[in-house]
Amino acid sequence: MYHAGQLRAIGVSNYTLGHLQELLAHCRVPPAVLQVECHPELPQRELWDFCQQHGIHLQAYASLGCGQLLGRAEVGRVAERQGRTPAQVLLRWALHQGVGVIPKSVNPTRLAENAQLWGWDLSLEDMAELGAMDCSRHYCWDPSGVT
Ligand SMILES: NC(=O)c1ccc[n+]([C@@H]2O[C@H](COP(=O)([O-])OP(=O)(O)OC[C@H]3O[C@@H](n4cnc5c(N)ncnc54)[C@H](OP(=O)(O)O)[C@@H]3O)[C@@H](O)[C@H]2O)c1
Repeated sequence: MYHAGQLRAIGVSNYTLGHLQELLAHCRVPPAVLQVECHPELPQRELWDFCQQHGIHLQAYASLGCGQLLGRAEVGRVAERQGRTPAQVLLRWALHQGVGVIPKSVNPTRLAENAQLWGWDLSLEDMAELGAMDCSRHYCWDPSGVT
């Protein structure tokens, strides 16, 4: 379908570094995007480096940790310093690193809040504080067991 012009780009989801290496070794069309769970507790640094090197855009899902990261003290402190909401801090954390976000909400007020991510940025201090949250925790599921 890609070669017939019916698809402009191909994306994959929940690929680990090993899955991606295996795919790149065999595919004719490398993926344009990889969608994985990504947030300060699961920053996916190794995968992010690999994607950078291979021109694959990393896109985060569960940026809010399925809602559970909104109450973290670190996120709250950064939100207070920035005069933003915890959700905006978590989404901006991804954008700051060039990672795309796709927050889901059925609430119009939250949808508007989640779109206010431009014209401001996190400081080095903010990024360091959020960076210390890394504990490799999945809130959705861990695809590393898929062979
Ligand atoms: N590729 C995959 O395997 C995969 C896996 C999981 C998810 N996804 C996709 O990723 C997208 C987002 O992921 P997700 O929904 O799991 O997680 P998420 O974006 O981390 O969290 C969404 C939850 O947070 C709430 N929320 C959203 N904005 C908020 C805000 N500003 N303040 C407070 N709460 C807020 C939402 O509730 P309300 O709706 O009530 O606002 C919803 O329950 C979805 O479109 C989903 O389809 C993909």
